Amino acid sequence: MRNTHVEIRLLSGAGGAEISGVDVARELDDDIVGKIRATLNEHCVVFFRDQELDAARQKAFARRFGEIFIHPNYKGIGDDPEIVMVRREPGDTSYVGEDWHADTTMWPEPPMGAILYGIDVPPYGGDTMFANQYLAYDALSEGMKNLLSGLRAVHSDIMVAGPQAGKNKGRSTKHRDGADWRETRSAHPVVRTHPETGRKMLFVNASYTVGFEGMTETESRPLLNFLMEHGNRPEFTFRFHWQRGSIAFWDNRSTKHIALGDTGPFRRLMRRVQICGDQPA
Ligand code: SIN
Repeated sequence: MRNTHVEIRLLSGAGGAEISGVDVARELDDDIVGKIRATLNEHCVVFFRDQELDAARQKAFARRFGEIFIHPNYKGIGDDPEIVMVRREPGDTSYVGEDWHADTTMWPEPPMGAILYGIDVPPYGGDTMFANQYLAYDALSEGMKNLLSGLRAVHSDIMVAGPQAGKNKGRSTKHRDGADWRETRSAHPVVRTHPETGRKMLFVNASYTVGFEGMTETESRPLLNFLMEHGNRPEFTFRFHWQRGSIAFWDNRSTKHIALGDTGPFRRLMRRVQICGDQPA
């Protein structure tokens, strides 16, 4: 495939754009990279179909958008620390991405995005859903926006990694859970401003956000629950159906996502590369 005629097809009113006419395994010129970045910023997730991509080419593509992020909880698990194989086998009772979340937000500078490549895709099911957090913020009342401005949320990996999370049992993709594992905690603004578009968005998620700074978890819970549910309202969401060779490249600042569990008796294998981000402000 040559990079000659780039076309962009919008997936929904809430976000997502499928880009055709780009072979991401090739050297991409700056114009095409600029177009992908602009589309990502505007539509929150970009998708490509029918790509042939080995790990080296996937990483080279990711590097056009930033440094590769090494996930602290998968470090030392696979052969290559820059890659996480997101694997689900028949019979698994748990899997990566099973709750609405943005990735790795316990980190002081969470990844700006992730590039997920479909290697072994079930004949049905296993879609990924995304929720646009610009829309979630915009839909709040002025009163709620005022309440949230200046509020910071505490993000921790205590619920998803480490021995206490108990997530490795029944899950093919394992994370670090040895006695040397340590929790990582960071506080980020509940309403974050996108560093490239300048737009405000909601920045809390079910996998990592444990409360508000200066409040107990019990005090935080009612408002947090409201924000979590609000952020996933159907009208903010869109859904991607995978095929072998598909790519989803999401903006991890402006979206949350969830991997659906309906893969039946089939295997699902994806290769993920994350891209470094900045400190939320
Ligand atoms: C993830 O949450 O990074 C994985 C998403 C998916 O497998 O669809």
